Amino acid sequence: MNKLKIFIVASEVVPFAKTGGLADVAGALPKALAALGHDVRVVMPRYYVVDKSKFKALDGALGVDMGRDGEAWGLVLEGVLPNTEIPVYFIEHEGYFGRSGLYDAGDNGYEDNPQRFIFFSKAALQLCKKLHFGPDIIHVNDWHTAIIPLLLNVMQDSYFQNTASILTIHNLQHQGRFTKDVMEILGIGWGNFNTYELEDFDGVNLLKAGIVHADAITTVSPKYSQEIRGFAYDWGLKDVLNAHAYKLHGILNGVDYEEWSPKSDHYIAKKYTAKSLSGKKVCKAELQKIFNLPVRADVPLFGFVGRLAEQKGVTLIASEIWNLLEMDIQIVLLGAGERWAESFFSHVSDVQREKFGCYIGYRNDLAHQIEAGCDFFLMPSLFEPCGLNQIYSLSYGTLPIVRATGGLDDTIENFNPHANTGTGFKFYDATPKAFYNTVVWAVDTWYNNKDAIKALIKNGMKKHFGWDDTAKVYESVYNEALQQKRQK
Ligand code: ADP
Ligand code: GLC
Repeated sequence: MNKLKIFIVASEVVPFAKTGGLADVAGALPKALAALGHDVRVVMPRYYVVDKSKFKALDGALGVDMGRDGEAWGLVLEGVLPNTEIPVYFIEHEGYFGRSGLYDAGDNGYEDNPQRFIFFSKAALQLCKKLHFGPDIIHVNDWHTAIIPLLLNVMQDSYFQNTASILTIHNLQHQGRFTKDVMEILGIGWGNFNTYELEDFDGVNLLKAGIVHADAITTVSPKYSQEIRGFAYDWGLKDVLNAHAYKLHGILNGVDYEEWSPKSDHYIAKKYTAKSLSGKKVCKAELQKIFNLPVRADVPLFGFVGRLAEQKGVTLIASEIWNLLEMDIQIVLLGAGERWAESFFSHVSDVQREKFGCYIGYRNDLAHQIEAGCDFFLMPSLFEPCGLNQIYSLSYGTLPIVRATGGLDDTIENFNPHANTGTGFKFYDATPKAFYNTVVWAVDTWYNNKDAIKALIKNGMKKHFGWDDTAKVYESVYNEALQQKRQK
Protein backbone atom coordinates (compact mmCIF):
# COMPACT_ATOMS: atom_id res chain seq x y z
CA MET A 1 0.00 0.00 0.00
CA ASN A 2 1.06 3.52 -0.76
CA LYS A 3 1.78 5.21 2.58
CA LEU A 4 0.73 8.86 2.40
CA LYS A 5 1.90 11.89 4.32
CA ILE A 6 -1.30 13.66 5.29
CA PHE A 7 -1.60 17.10 6.85
CA ILE A 8 -5.01 17.88 8.31
CA VAL A 9 -5.74 21.57 8.82
CA ALA A 10 -8.80 22.42 10.91
CA SER A 11 -10.07 25.32 12.99
CA GLU A 12 -11.27 23.01 15.79
CA VAL A 13 -10.27 19.52 16.90
CA VAL A 14 -11.64 17.27 19.67
CA PRO A 15 -10.63 17.20 22.51
CA PHE A 16 -8.82 20.55 22.35
CA ALA A 17 -11.51 22.94 21.09
CA LYS A 18 -15.00 22.29 19.80
CA THR A 19 -18.10 24.17 18.76
CA GLY A 20 -19.63 21.45 16.58
CA GLY A 21 -19.18 18.31 14.53
CA LEU A 22 -16.17 19.59 12.59
CA ALA A 23 -14.12 19.10 15.76
CA ASP A 24 -15.40 15.52 16.19
CA VAL A 25 -14.39 14.72 12.63
CA ALA A 26 -10.99 16.43 12.84
CA GLY A 27 -10.26 14.49 16.04
CA ALA A 28 -11.38 11.09 14.76
CA LEU A 29 -10.45 10.86 11.06
CA PRO A 30 -6.68 11.23 11.72
CA LYS A 31 -6.78 8.22 14.05
CA ALA A 32 -8.52 6.08 11.44
CA LEU A 33 -6.09 7.19 8.72
CA ALA A 34 -3.12 6.46 10.97
CA ALA A 35 -4.57 3.02 11.63
CA LEU A 36 -4.37 2.41 7.88
CA GLY A 37 -0.64 3.10 8.09
CA HIS A 38 -0.49 6.71 6.90
CA ASP A 39 1.71 9.40 8.41
CA VAL A 40 -0.87 11.88 9.68
CA ARG A 41 -0.37 15.24 11.38
CA VAL A 42 -2.92 17.79 12.50
CA VAL A 43 -2.74 21.55 12.92
CA MET A 44 -5.15 23.97 14.59
CA PRO A 45 -5.01 27.43 16.22
CA ARG A 46 -4.12 27.76 19.87
CA TYR A 47 -7.16 29.45 21.41
CA TYR A 48 -7.32 30.27 25.11
CA VAL A 49 -9.35 27.09 25.71
CA VAL A 50 -6.26 25.08 24.74
CA ASP A 51 -4.18 24.70 27.89
CA LYS A 52 -0.70 25.47 26.61
CA SER A 53 1.08 24.25 29.72
CA LYS A 54 0.51 20.69 28.44
CA PHE A 55 2.48 21.19 25.24
CA LYS A 56 6.03 21.93 24.30
CA ALA A 57 6.94 24.88 22.10
CA LEU A 58 8.98 24.32 18.95
CA ASP A 59 12.10 26.41 18.59
CA GLY A 60 11.76 29.54 16.49
CA ALA A 61 8.69 31.40 15.27
CA LEU A 62 6.85 31.46 11.96
CA GLY A 63 6.88 34.81 10.17
CA VAL A 64 3.73 35.09 8.08
CA ASP A 65 3.25 37.63 5.31
CA MET A 66 -0.03 39.42 5.97
CA GLY A 67 0.18 41.71 2.93
CA ARG A 68 -0.88 45.25 3.81
CA ASP A 69 -0.60 44.45 7.54
CA GLY A 70 3.06 43.44 7.28
CA GLU A 71 4.49 40.34 8.88
CA ALA A 72 2.82 38.51 11.77
CA TRP A 73 4.75 36.11 13.97
CA GLY A 74 3.39 32.93 15.47
CA LEU A 75 4.80 30.31 17.79
CA VAL A 76 4.08 26.61 17.40
CA LEU A 77 3.21 24.23 20.22
CA GLU A 78 3.33 20.50 19.79
CA GLY A 79 1.22 17.77 21.37
CA VAL A 80 -0.45 14.53 20.33
CA LEU A 81 -4.01 13.35 19.89
CA PRO A 82 -4.83 11.59 23.18
CA ASN A 83 -3.80 7.93 23.34
CA THR A 84 -2.01 8.14 20.00
CA GLU A 85 1.30 9.24 18.60
CA ILE A 86 -0.35 11.51 16.05
CA PRO A 87 1.26 14.94 16.31
CA VAL A 88 -1.00 17.95 16.75
CA TYR A 89 0.43 21.42 16.24
CA PHE A 90 -1.09 24.56 17.67
CA ILE A 91 -0.38 27.88 15.99
CA GLU A 92 -0.16 30.57 18.60
CA HIS A 93 -0.69 34.28 18.09
CA GLU A 94 -1.89 36.31 21.02
CA GLY A 95 -3.49 39.03 18.90
CA TYR A 96 -5.46 36.65 16.70
CA PHE A 97 -6.27 33.70 18.96
CA GLY A 98 -5.75 34.97 22.49
CA ARG A 99 -9.44 35.15 23.31
CA SER A 100 -12.00 32.74 24.64
CA GLY A 101 -14.33 32.40 21.62
CA LEU A 102 -13.27 30.41 18.58
CA TYR A 103 -15.13 32.48 16.00
CA ASP A 104 -17.20 35.00 17.92
CA ALA A 105 -18.09 36.36 21.30
CA GLY A 106 -21.69 35.18 21.04
CA ASP A 107 -22.54 37.53 18.16
CA ASN A 108 -21.92 37.61 14.42
CA GLY A 109 -18.27 36.73 14.37
CA TYR A 110 -15.05 38.57 15.20
CA GLU A 111 -14.35 41.41 12.80
CA ASP A 112 -10.82 40.23 12.21
CA ASN A 113 -11.86 36.66 11.30
CA PRO A 114 -10.41 37.01 7.78
CA GLN A 115 -7.03 38.05 9.22
CA ARG A 116 -7.16 35.31 11.85
CA PHE A 117 -7.80 32.46 9.46
CA ILE A 118 -5.67 33.72 6.59
CA PHE A 119 -2.86 33.93 9.12
CA PHE A 120 -3.59 30.40 10.32
CA SER A 121 -3.79 29.02 6.76
CA LYS A 122 -0.52 30.58 5.70
CA ALA A 123 1.17 29.55 8.95
CA ALA A 124 0.04 25.95 8.39
CA LEU A 125 1.85 25.86 5.04
CA GLN A 126 4.98 27.31 6.57
CA LEU A 127 4.83 24.78 9.35
CA CYS A 128 5.18 21.93 6.83
CA LYS A 129 8.49 23.38 5.76
CA LYS A 130 9.63 23.98 9.30
CA LEU A 131 8.89 20.34 10.11
CA HIS A 132 10.44 19.10 6.86
CA PHE A 133 7.11 17.42 6.27
CA GLY A 134 6.39 17.57 2.54
CA PRO A 135 2.81 16.29 2.53
CA ASP A 136 1.22 14.24 -0.25
CA ILE A 137 -2.13 15.52 0.96
CA ILE A 138 -3.22 18.74 2.61
CA HIS A 139 -6.75 18.22 3.84
CA VAL A 140 -8.53 21.50 4.68
CA ASN A 141 -11.93 21.97 6.25
CA ASP A 142 -14.64 24.60 5.75
CA TRP A 143 -14.09 28.27 4.94
CA HIS A 144 -11.50 28.88 7.65
CA THR A 145 -8.78 27.03 5.75
CA ALA A 146 -10.31 26.94 2.26
CA ILE A 147 -7.86 29.51 0.94
CA ILE A 148 -5.02 26.98 1.17
CA PRO A 149 -5.73 25.22 -2.18
CA LEU A 150 -5.67 28.61 -3.92
CA LEU A 151 -2.46 29.62 -2.15
CA LEU A 152 -0.83 26.37 -3.24
CA ASN A 153 -1.80 26.93 -6.85
CA VAL A 154 -0.78 30.59 -6.86
CA MET A 155 2.51 30.18 -5.01
CA GLN A 156 3.73 27.34 -7.25
CA ASP A 157 6.24 26.57 -4.51
CA SER A 158 8.36 23.60 -5.55
CA TYR A 159 8.13 22.31 -1.97
CA PHE A 160 4.45 21.55 -2.58
CA GLN A 161 4.65 20.52 -6.23
CA ASN A 162 3.57 16.96 -5.43
CA THR A 163 0.99 17.95 -2.81
CA ALA A 164 -2.72 17.51 -3.58
CA SER A 165 -5.32 19.53 -1.69
CA ILE A 166 -8.64 18.22 -0.44
CA LEU A 167 -11.39 20.51 0.80
CA THR A 168 -14.12 19.07 3.02
CA ILE A 169 -17.30 21.11 3.15
CA HIS A 170 -18.92 20.50 6.53
CA ASN A 171 -21.42 23.29 6.08
CA LEU A 172 -22.00 25.34 2.93
CA GLN A 173 -23.90 28.03 4.80
CA HIS A 174 -20.70 29.49 6.20
CA GLN A 175 -18.46 30.59 3.35
CA GLY A 176 -16.06 33.18 4.69
CA ARG A 177 -17.56 36.07 2.73
CA PHE A 178 -15.75 39.33 3.39
CA THR A 179 -15.19 42.71 1.80
CA LYS A 180 -12.71 42.83 -1.03
CA ASP A 181 -10.03 44.64 0.95
CA VAL A 182 -9.19 41.18 2.31
CA MET A 183 -7.27 40.83 -0.98
CA GLU A 184 -4.76 43.29 0.48
CA ILE A 185 -4.13 40.92 3.38
CA LEU A 186 -3.88 37.86 1.19
CA GLY A 187 -1.03 39.65 -0.53
CA ILE A 188 -1.28 37.77 -3.84
CA GLY A 189 -2.19 40.75 -6.02
CA TRP A 190 -5.63 41.11 -7.63
CA GLY A 191 -5.20 38.51 -10.36
CA ASN A 192 -7.44 35.94 -8.64
CA PHE A 193 -10.14 38.46 -7.80
CA ASN A 194 -12.53 37.41 -10.51
CA THR A 195 -15.90 35.73 -10.64
CA TYR A 196 -14.35 32.30 -11.42
CA GLU A 197 -12.20 32.27 -8.29
CA LEU A 198 -12.37 34.56 -5.25
CA GLU A 199 -14.88 37.20 -6.18
CA ASP A 200 -18.48 36.99 -5.08
CA PHE A 201 -20.76 40.02 -5.38
CA ASP A 202 -17.77 42.34 -5.24
CA GLY A 203 -16.43 40.76 -2.06
CA VAL A 204 -14.20 37.76 -1.45
CA ASN A 205 -15.52 34.27 -0.80
CA LEU A 206 -12.89 32.00 0.71
CA LEU A 207 -14.90 28.79 0.42
CA LYS A 208 -15.54 29.43 -3.25
CA ALA A 209 -11.79 29.79 -3.80
CA GLY A 210 -11.33 26.40 -2.14
CA ILE A 211 -13.99 24.75 -4.29
CA VAL A 212 -12.34 26.04 -7.44
CA HIS A 213 -8.74 25.30 -6.51
CA ALA A 214 -8.87 22.06 -4.48
CA ASP A 215 -7.87 18.87 -6.27
CA ALA A 216 -10.85 17.14 -4.65
CA ILE A 217 -13.88 18.28 -2.68
CA THR A 218 -15.82 16.19 -0.23
CA THR A 219 -19.04 16.74 1.65
CA VAL A 220 -19.87 14.87 4.83
CA SER A 221 -22.71 12.77 3.43
CA PRO A 222 -23.63 11.52 -0.06
CA LYS A 223 -27.06 13.13 -0.02
CA TYR A 224 -25.65 16.56 0.87
CA SER A 225 -23.22 16.33 -2.07
CA GLN A 226 -26.29 16.12 -4.30
CA GLU A 227 -28.44 18.66 -2.46
CA ILE A 228 -25.88 21.45 -2.67
CA ARG A 229 -25.88 21.21 -6.46
CA GLY A 230 -29.49 22.38 -6.53
CA PHE A 231 -31.17 25.66 -5.76
CA ALA A 232 -32.68 24.81 -2.36
CA TYR A 233 -29.45 24.06 -0.47
CA ASP A 234 -26.71 25.81 -2.42
CA TRP A 235 -26.38 29.15 -0.59
CA GLY A 236 -25.59 30.71 -3.96
CA LEU A 237 -22.84 28.29 -4.98
CA LYS A 238 -24.60 25.73 -7.17
CA ASP A 239 -23.05 26.92 -10.42
CA VAL A 240 -19.53 26.75 -9.02
CA LEU A 241 -20.24 23.36 -7.47
CA ASN A 242 -21.73 21.98 -10.66
CA ALA A 243 -18.76 23.22 -12.64
CA HIS A 244 -16.50 21.25 -10.27
CA ALA A 245 -18.78 18.28 -9.69
CA TYR A 246 -16.26 15.96 -11.40
CA LYS A 247 -14.11 16.19 -8.24
CA LEU A 248 -16.95 16.24 -5.67
CA HIS A 249 -17.49 13.22 -3.40
CA GLY A 250 -20.01 12.62 -0.62
CA ILE A 251 -18.44 10.65 2.24
CA LEU A 252 -20.51 9.94 5.32
CA ASN A 253 -18.92 10.85 8.66
CA GLY A 254 -18.18 8.07 11.09
CA VAL A 255 -18.56 7.88 14.83
CA ASP A 256 -15.77 7.63 17.35
CA TYR A 257 -17.23 4.76 19.35
CA GLU A 258 -14.51 5.16 21.97
CA GLU A 259 -16.32 8.40 22.85
CA TRP A 260 -19.92 7.62 22.00
CA SER A 261 -20.92 4.16 23.17
CA PRO A 262 -23.10 3.25 26.18
CA LYS A 263 -20.81 0.25 26.76
CA SER A 264 -17.91 2.42 27.84
CA ASP A 265 -19.21 5.97 28.35
CA HIS A 266 -17.85 7.28 31.65
CA TYR A 267 -20.20 10.29 31.72
CA ILE A 268 -23.39 8.24 32.10
CA ALA A 269 -25.02 6.94 35.28
CA LYS A 270 -24.87 3.27 34.28
CA LYS A 271 -23.30 1.60 31.27
CA TYR A 272 -25.41 -0.71 29.12
CA THR A 273 -25.48 -2.77 25.94
CA ALA A 274 -28.09 -3.80 23.37
CA LYS A 275 -28.44 -7.15 25.16
CA SER A 276 -29.03 -5.63 28.55
CA LEU A 277 -30.80 -2.28 28.55
CA SER A 278 -31.41 -2.03 32.29
CA GLY A 279 -28.65 0.60 32.60
CA LYS A 280 -30.58 2.82 30.19
CA LYS A 281 -33.46 2.98 32.67
CA VAL A 282 -31.04 4.19 35.33
CA CYS A 283 -29.70 6.81 32.92
CA LYS A 284 -33.25 7.98 32.21
CA ALA A 285 -34.10 8.39 35.87
CA GLU A 286 -30.83 10.21 36.46
CA LEU A 287 -31.48 12.58 33.57
CA GLN A 288 -34.96 13.36 34.87
CA LYS A 289 -33.38 14.23 38.22
CA ILE A 290 -30.76 16.46 36.57
CA PHE A 291 -33.54 18.47 34.95
CA ASN A 292 -35.84 18.36 38.00
CA LEU A 293 -38.50 16.48 36.09
CA PRO A 294 -40.75 13.87 37.72
CA VAL A 295 -38.89 10.55 37.72
CA ARG A 296 -41.15 8.34 35.65
CA ALA A 297 -40.17 5.33 33.55
CA ASP A 298 -43.51 5.24 31.74
CA VAL A 299 -43.38 8.70 30.16
CA PRO A 300 -41.55 9.14 26.83
CA LEU A 301 -38.53 11.42 27.25
CA PHE A 302 -37.35 13.46 24.22
CA GLY A 303 -33.97 15.16 23.93
CA PHE A 304 -32.33 17.84 21.84
CA VAL A 305 -28.64 18.71 21.80
CA GLY A 306 -27.24 21.22 19.38
CA ARG A 307 -26.54 24.72 18.26
CA LEU A 308 -29.65 26.85 18.61
CA ALA A 309 -29.50 27.91 14.98
CA GLU A 310 -32.09 27.96 12.26
CA GLN A 311 -30.29 25.07 10.53
CA LYS A 312 -31.19 22.78 13.41
CA GLY A 313 -34.93 23.29 13.02
CA VAL A 314 -35.29 25.18 16.29
CA THR A 315 -38.04 27.29 14.72
CA LEU A 316 -40.05 24.10 14.16
CA ILE A 317 -39.56 23.04 17.78
CA ALA A 318 -40.39 26.54 19.05
CA SER A 319 -43.58 26.71 16.95
CA GLU A 320 -44.89 23.42 18.28
CA ILE A 321 -43.50 23.22 21.80
CA TRP A 322 -46.71 24.28 23.60
CA ASN A 323 -48.77 21.83 21.54
CA LEU A 324 -46.31 19.02 22.13
CA LEU A 325 -46.31 19.62 25.87
CA GLU A 326 -50.07 19.07 25.95
CA MET A 327 -49.26 15.38 25.65
CA ASP A 328 -48.00 13.21 28.49
CA ILE A 329 -44.33 13.57 27.52
CA GLN A 330 -41.12 15.18 28.77
CA ILE A 331 -38.52 17.08 26.76
CA VAL A 332 -34.98 18.13 27.67
CA LEU A 333 -32.92 20.56 25.61
CA LEU A 334 -29.22 21.41 25.72
CA GLY A 335 -27.97 24.15 23.45
CA ALA A 336 -26.58 27.58 22.93
CA GLY A 337 -26.85 29.98 20.05
CA GLU A 338 -29.35 32.52 18.84
CA ARG A 339 -30.44 34.80 21.65
CA TRP A 340 -34.18 34.59 20.90
CA ALA A 341 -34.04 30.80 21.13
CA GLU A 342 -32.07 30.82 24.36
CA SER A 343 -34.59 33.09 26.08
CA PHE A 344 -37.61 31.42 24.52
CA PHE A 345 -36.68 27.91 25.68
CA SER A 346 -35.68 29.19 29.12
CA HIS A 347 -39.12 30.76 29.37
CA VAL A 348 -40.82 27.49 28.35
CA SER A 349 -38.95 25.64 31.09
CA ASP A 350 -40.05 28.24 33.66
CA VAL A 351 -43.69 27.77 32.68
CA GLN A 352 -43.66 24.01 32.11
CA ARG A 353 -41.37 22.87 34.92
CA GLU A 354 -42.87 19.38 35.11
CA LYS A 355 -42.43 18.63 31.44
CA PHE A 356 -39.64 20.69 29.92
CA GLY A 357 -36.06 20.99 31.11
CA CYS A 358 -33.49 23.19 29.48
CA TYR A 359 -29.81 23.99 29.89
CA ILE A 360 -28.50 26.91 27.90
CA GLY A 361 -24.77 26.51 27.38
CA TYR A 362 -22.23 23.99 26.22
CA ARG A 363 -21.69 20.81 28.26
CA ASN A 364 -20.16 17.69 26.83
CA ASP A 365 -21.02 15.50 29.85
CA LEU A 366 -24.67 16.51 29.64
CA ALA A 367 -24.73 15.81 25.88
CA HIS A 368 -23.69 12.22 26.68
CA GLN A 369 -26.24 11.93 29.49
CA ILE A 370 -29.03 13.12 27.18
CA GLU A 371 -28.05 10.60 24.51
CA ALA A 372 -28.15 7.80 27.08
CA GLY A 373 -31.16 8.87 29.15
CA CYS A 374 -33.70 9.80 26.47
CA ASP A 375 -36.11 7.57 24.61
CA PHE A 376 -36.24 9.80 21.53
CA PHE A 377 -33.88 12.36 20.03
CA LEU A 378 -35.17 15.39 18.11
CA MET A 379 -33.30 16.50 14.99
CA PRO A 380 -35.75 18.37 12.76
CA SER A 381 -33.01 20.17 10.80
CA LEU A 382 -33.89 22.35 7.83
CA PHE A 383 -30.62 21.15 6.30
CA GLU A 384 -27.95 18.87 7.73
CA PRO A 385 -24.67 18.20 5.93
CA CYS A 386 -24.21 15.06 8.04
CA GLY A 387 -25.30 15.42 11.63
CA LEU A 388 -23.67 13.33 14.31
CA ASN A 389 -26.14 13.29 17.16
CA GLN A 390 -28.67 11.15 15.29
CA ILE A 391 -25.92 8.56 14.74
CA TYR A 392 -24.85 8.78 18.39
CA SER A 393 -28.51 8.26 19.28
CA LEU A 394 -28.59 4.97 17.37
CA SER A 395 -25.66 3.72 19.40
CA TYR A 396 -27.44 4.63 22.69
CA GLY A 397 -30.77 3.02 21.71
CA THR A 398 -32.41 6.45 21.56
CA LEU A 399 -34.79 6.75 18.63
CA PRO A 400 -34.06 9.67 16.33
CA ILE A 401 -36.85 11.83 14.94
CA VAL A 402 -35.37 13.50 11.88
CA ARG A 403 -36.22 15.45 8.81
CA ALA A 404 -35.23 13.64 5.63
CA THR A 405 -32.37 15.88 4.60
CA GLY A 406 -28.62 15.44 4.05
CA GLY A 407 -26.92 13.03 6.40
CA LEU A 408 -30.11 12.59 8.43
CA ASP A 409 -31.73 10.98 5.42
CA ASP A 410 -28.65 8.88 4.68
CA THR A 411 -28.34 7.48 8.21
CA ILE A 412 -31.89 6.99 9.50
CA GLU A 413 -34.38 4.50 8.06
CA ASN A 414 -38.00 5.33 8.63
CA PHE A 415 -40.13 3.13 10.90
CA ASN A 416 -42.33 0.73 8.98
CA PRO A 417 -45.10 -0.36 11.37
CA HIS A 418 -46.07 -3.32 9.17
CA ALA A 419 -42.70 -5.01 9.49
CA ASN A 420 -41.21 -3.28 12.56
CA THR A 421 -38.25 -2.25 10.42
CA GLY A 422 -36.41 1.06 10.50
CA THR A 423 -34.28 2.93 12.99
CA GLY A 424 -36.25 6.11 13.66
CA PHE A 425 -39.06 8.43 12.64
CA LYS A 426 -38.68 10.62 9.55
CA PHE A 427 -40.60 13.49 8.04
CA TYR A 428 -40.16 15.32 4.77
CA ASP A 429 -41.73 18.77 4.75
CA ALA A 430 -39.86 21.44 6.71
CA THR A 431 -43.07 22.57 8.38
CA PRO A 432 -44.10 22.76 12.04
CA LYS A 433 -47.09 20.57 11.24
CA ALA A 434 -45.03 17.76 9.72
CA PHE A 435 -42.70 17.88 12.72
CA TYR A 436 -45.59 17.87 15.20
CA ASN A 437 -47.32 14.95 13.46
CA THR A 438 -44.15 12.90 13.53
CA VAL A 439 -43.62 13.45 17.25
CA VAL A 440 -47.26 12.46 17.80
CA TRP A 441 -46.60 9.32 15.75
CA ALA A 442 -43.62 8.50 18.00
CA VAL A 443 -45.63 9.15 21.18
CA ASP A 444 -48.46 6.98 19.92
CA THR A 445 -46.00 4.19 19.11
CA TRP A 446 -44.47 4.52 22.59
CA TYR A 447 -47.78 4.14 24.39
CA ASN A 448 -49.47 1.66 22.06
CA ASN A 449 -46.84 -0.47 20.36
CA LYS A 450 -44.11 -1.45 22.80
CA ASP A 451 -42.90 -4.26 20.52
CA ALA A 452 -42.20 -1.79 17.74
CA ILE A 453 -40.22 0.44 20.09
CA LYS A 454 -38.14 -2.53 21.21
CA ALA A 455 -37.53 -3.56 17.61
CA LEU A 456 -36.48 -0.06 16.57
CA ILE A 457 -34.03 0.21 19.46
CA LYS A 458 -32.53 -3.11 18.51
CA ASN A 459 -32.30 -2.21 14.82
CA GLY A 460 -30.55 1.08 15.62
CA MET A 461 -28.09 -0.36 18.11
CA LYS A 462 -26.99 -2.92 15.51
CA LYS A 463 -25.92 -0.22 13.06
CA HIS A 464 -22.28 0.63 12.84
CA PHE A 465 -20.89 3.84 11.36
CA GLY A 466 -17.22 3.30 12.08
CA TRP A 467 -14.41 5.55 10.90
CA ASP A 468 -12.45 2.51 9.72
CA ASP A 469 -14.49 2.10 6.53
CA THR A 470 -14.85 5.84 6.02
CA ALA A 471 -11.09 6.34 6.20
CA LYS A 472 -10.68 3.88 3.33
CA VAL A 473 -12.97 6.00 1.19
CA TYR A 474 -10.93 9.12 2.03
CA GLU A 475 -7.83 7.16 1.12
CA SER A 476 -9.16 6.46 -2.36
CA VAL A 477 -10.18 10.12 -2.81
CA TYR A 478 -6.68 11.17 -1.73
CA ASN A 479 -5.14 8.86 -4.32
CA GLU A 480 -7.47 10.13 -7.02
CA ALA A 481 -6.63 13.73 -6.11
CA LEU A 482 -2.92 12.97 -6.31
CA GLN A 483 -3.45 11.59 -9.80
CA GLN A 484 -5.36 14.73 -10.80
CA LYS A 485 -2.55 16.82 -9.43
CA ARG A 486 0.11 14.91 -11.33
CA GLN A 487 -1.81 15.32 -14.57
CA LYS A 488 -1.84 19.11 -14.21
P1 ADP B 1 -23.03 20.77 13.91
O1 ADP B 1 -21.61 20.49 13.62
O2 ADP B 1 -23.78 21.31 12.74
O3 ADP B 1 -23.23 21.62 15.11
P2 ADP B 1 -23.27 17.89 14.44
O4 ADP B 1 -24.46 17.06 14.74
O5 ADP B 1 -22.40 17.42 13.36
O6 ADP B 1 -23.78 19.38 14.21
O7 ADP B 1 -22.33 17.95 15.70
C1 ADP B 1 -22.63 18.65 16.85
C2 ADP B 1 -21.69 18.16 17.93
O8 ADP B 1 -21.59 19.17 18.92
C3 ADP B 1 -22.16 16.94 18.63
O9 ADP B 1 -21.05 16.19 19.08
C4 ADP B 1 -22.96 17.50 19.81
O10 ADP B 1 -23.05 16.61 20.87
C5 ADP B 1 -22.15 18.70 20.15
N1 ADP B 1 -22.91 19.81 20.76
C6 ADP B 1 -23.65 20.74 20.12
N2 ADP B 1 -24.17 21.62 21.00
C7 ADP B 1 -23.74 21.24 22.22
C8 ADP B 1 -23.93 21.74 23.55
N3 ADP B 1 -24.68 22.81 23.78
N4 ADP B 1 -23.32 21.10 24.56
C9 ADP B 1 -22.57 19.99 24.32
N5 ADP B 1 -22.36 19.47 23.10
C10 ADP B 1 -22.93 20.07 22.06
C1 GLC C 1 -21.17 20.66 10.18
C2 GLC C 1 -22.57 20.22 9.85
C3 GLC C 1 -22.95 18.89 10.44
C4 GLC C 1 -21.82 17.89 10.31
C5 GLC C 1 -20.55 18.47 10.91
C6 GLC C 1 -19.37 17.53 10.85
O1 GLC C 1 -21.06 21.50 11.25
O2 GLC C 1 -23.53 21.19 10.19
O3 GLC C 1 -24.10 18.40 9.79
O4 GLC C 1 -22.14 16.69 10.96
O5 GLC C 1 -20.20 19.64 10.24
O6 GLC C 1 -19.03 17.16 9.54
